[in-house]
Amino acid sequence: MKLAPSILSADFGNLRAEARQVEPLAEYFHIDVMDGHFVPNLTIGPPVVNSLRVGLEKPFDIHLMIDYPVQYAPRFTVTAQDIITFHIESKDEPFRTNDQIRELGCKVGISLRPITPITAVFPYLDLVDLVLVMSVEPGFGGQAFMLEAVERIGKLKEEIGERKVMISVDGGINDTNVKDVVDAGAELIVAGSAIFKHSDRIAAMRALIAAAS
Ligand code: DX5
Ligand code: ZN
Repeated sequence: MKLAPSILSADFGNLRAEARQVEPLAEYFHIDVMDGHFVPNLTIGPPVVNSLRVGLEKPFDIHLMIDYPVQYAPRFTVTAQDIITFHIESKDEPFRTNDQIRELGCKVGISLRPITPITAVFPYLDLVDLVLVMSVEPGFGGQAFMLEAVERIGKLKEEIGERKVMISVDGGINDTNVKDVVDAGAELIVAGSAIFKHSDRIAAMRALIAAAS
């Protein structure tokens, strides 16, 4: 199990210092980009994300909750280790979005809302590196985990089979449900409030790792 702390729950006025605190146990920094259209919330965009790189070593897992990923994905500075994840429900055609993110030289992730059937991502499994299963309605941190995600992850895992596609899960993850999602097949665990609401972030991350095993 690998952890991707979601900095959405961090202090936005102090982002780099907040990110540094969690970096020792983070596989990626999960960064939520929202446009106020795809979801009813606005966060940060390319200028802030790109300047956040300075002083951080771990790769970025950029979660685009925006209507037009084709237009905005190229504005992020990425390396081969980073992931850009787009939503299958965004307004751009998913095969086109996948190709365009692939051309940027980073990994590609596809995500889906809880209401979208898990089978909707099956046609993309030969193309993407990651599927991000939302376990809350995207838009805000601190929401309650939707139990149905466990079964969806299990189905997805079965369909992935031998392919090298990582399953990630995002939303409401805490000590009480992390084992269920990991046992079902999730490898990259996104957690926002379960890490940043605690003053000792490293202890909170250790607790999540312990609860998963
Ligand atoms: C929600 C975001 C999540 C969010 C998770 O739309 O995609 O990454 O930050 O926060 P928690 O872990 O608090 O649900
Ligand atoms: Zn996210």
